[in-house]
Amino acid sequence: MRDSLGRNINYLRLSITDRCNLRCRYCMPGDGVALAAHDELLRYEELLRVAEAAISLGIDRFKVTGGEPLVRRGCVDFVRSLKALPGVRQVTLTTNGLLLPPLLDGLCAAGLDGVNISLDTLDNAQYQRLTRRGHSADEVLRAVRLCAARLPTKVNAVLLPETADQLIPLAELAAQLPVGVRFIERMPLGAGESGRTVTADAALDRLRTRWPSLAPTDGICGNGPARYFHAEGMQGCIGLIDAVSHGFCSRCNRLRLTSTGFLKPCLCYEQGVDLKPLLRGSADDAALRDAICKAILQKPAAHCFTQRDHITEHHSMNQIGG
Ligand code: 5AD
Ligand code: SF4
Repeated sequence: MRDSLGRNINYLRLSITDRCNLRCRYCMPGDGVALAAHDELLRYEELLRVAEAAISLGIDRFKVTGGEPLVRRGCVDFVRSLKALPGVRQVTLTTNGLLLPPLLDGLCAAGLDGVNISLDTLDNAQYQRLTRRGHSADEVLRAVRLCAARLPTKVNAVLLPETADQLIPLAELAAQLPVGVRFIERMPLGAGESGRTVTADAALDRLRTRWPSLAPTDGICGNGPARYFHAEGMQGCIGLIDAVSHGFCSRCNRLRLTSTGFLKPCLCYEQGVDLKPLLRGSADDAALRDAICKAILQKPAAHCFTQRDHITEHHSMNQIGG
């Protein structure tokens, strides 16, 4: 379905939990995280009902997110059910990778089309400081290698001043493995609200010192919001997601459903449509579809990350769906 500005909305991110086994500094507070009560989270049947209504409006790609989606029991079965819905073209997953290795066979068999693994540094001490839960970057790297051999795999790294020395080591993964390594500007939301910003352009300049032949590619690595680059001899590619500084709002194709059933047309604003009362009341499929249309038609022209006092979304990314 087209929104009021003619953008084709064909992609829905489904957050299945606000829980996570990490506490990344830019995403969640360290302690005292306000988590939704269990019965506030949408049940899998409810999520599938939303997906079916979305499909009837032309949405055919889904991303399963969290929090950390793999901490929710039954996640693999959910992926299978979602992928089996008529009209679904693509189901992918965003994960921190820690729980991935033992679930990988099941996810592949369920029809998963790709995985995005979050990894901001290869330095174990830095990883621990950043994620605050005693895990190591090596565990994640293992998941990346396993995944890359089986599925289209992307590594997502949020650009942070404290991991500036990791740009080239992370990008080396794209040289050695058939993965897309994507550097993402930190979005000033929730726990990630403040801090010095590293722009995607600054990252690109730095990467060019190592790969002078780094050149833009069209689409061979993906067709989402990233600008992709490739250098001779690289197995994978490097992506830059300059969500904040350039903005790709005019090409935005997505909606997000929070784990508690709130449908958001844009990350930056609190605006959206609460689907939970419809799912738990007596609303029929037509009413659910109308509610999704309403969210699509509310979609604003652009985010306002560079004018922070205009941001009306005050939840953290684990609550919104990273
Ligand atoms: N800015 C950008 N990305 C973020 N994520 C979480 N918080 C932020 C933020 N403030 C990303 C994680 C991961 C996904 C779950 O969301 O790095 O890739
Ligand atoms: Fe968990 Fe991802 Fe947030 Fe880190 S960024 S705390 S892994 S949801």
